[in-house]
Amino acid sequence: MTDDLAALQHEAEHSIAAAPDLRALEAVRVALLGKAGRLTARLKALGGLPAEARREEGARLNVVKEALAAALAARRVALEGAALEARLAGERIDVTLPARPSESGVIHPISRSMDEIAALFGAMGFSVAEGPDIETDWHNFGALNIPPHHPARADHDTFYLPPETAEAPPPVLRTHTSPVQVRTMLSAPPPIHIIAMGRTYRADHDATHSPMFHQCEGLVIDRAITLGHLKGCLSDFLRAFFGLPDLPVRFRASYFPFTEPSMEVDIGWNRRTGELGRGGDWLEILGSGMVHAKVLANAGIDPREWQGFAFGMGIERITMLKHGISDLRPFFESDLRWLRHYGFSPLAPAMLHEGV
Ligand code: PHE
Repeated sequence: MTDDLAALQHEAEHSIAAAPDLRALEAVRVALLGKAGRLTARLKALGGLPAEARREEGARLNVVKEALAAALAARRVALEGAALEARLAGERIDVTLPARPSESGVIHPISRSMDEIAALFGAMGFSVAEGPDIETDWHNFGALNIPPHHPARADHDTFYLPPETAEAPPPVLRTHTSPVQVRTMLSAPPPIHIIAMGRTYRADHDATHSPMFHQCEGLVIDRAITLGHLKGCLSDFLRAFFGLPDLPVRFRASYFPFTEPSMEVDIGWNRRTGELGRGGDWLEILGSGMVHAKVLANAGIDPREWQGFAFGMGIERITMLKHGISDLRPFFESDLRWLRHYGFSPLAPAMLHEGV
């Protein structure tokens, strides 16, 4: 009997050690300890033995059962480790290989413009700030000195979200990137030189307006900043962005609640041909001004000590002008033919030394 059991144990240990994979190991386990397994059969047979023999045989069987269970568990861990190793080896990626030029992927013209804008303002010492698409009424309007009766606050111009409580003003999908001015001023003391790019939303839809579009905001807060800095900075940017060193740039008095004085910026072009840089016509492309003292105060900055300028421009608009794109709608229609035509190679990023 004992020899017999020892032989079973020996044989089982051998099968366990030799199981080549998890499935084979499971078959060995079932053959030993499953319902009709060899060891199970012997355990069942205990009931038929006289009391004395049953105790002895039972103890022996338990020792063997535990030893085999331990051997099974150890082999399982080893096989699982080996399976993982094999998978990792099979899926190894050589990150040092050069990129494969791909025909299928291009950089969207809006992303390209954002890269170019960041490169140009980066070279002028600006860093890039961010803010959320869902804004509070205060960041989007109140802190920017936008009065309650201003048209931008009307339901038909702006997308509102359900308010969190009955009294709270409803959150808005930001109607411009100007709330990032407020967030930036509140987050760190001046001097500040930032641009902020991202999605903005207005209830508008036609060939030149999309309910979702992109803006680039700029904010400079420092000591002794003047209108001259604003004009120099924006003229340099526009001439570099459009690649026209003598692009005519005009600053025209305007009104925004959050700047004083405010100016609309126009560039020279030919209305008939669409050619930029000459032709005697003017095209408005962005809004700007000296940051209103109330806005500085709302953001906790003393307007007697600090001042600065801000500007905001539509990224679709300058992208359409730069590349001669006449319709705004295809920007967001994911038409692959349009994207391949107007997209940019991911392997040729916007870099200043080549001109953007
Ligand atoms: N936020 C304004 C708009 O969306 C643009 C702007 C920004 C004007 C900063 C002046 C200063 O029209």
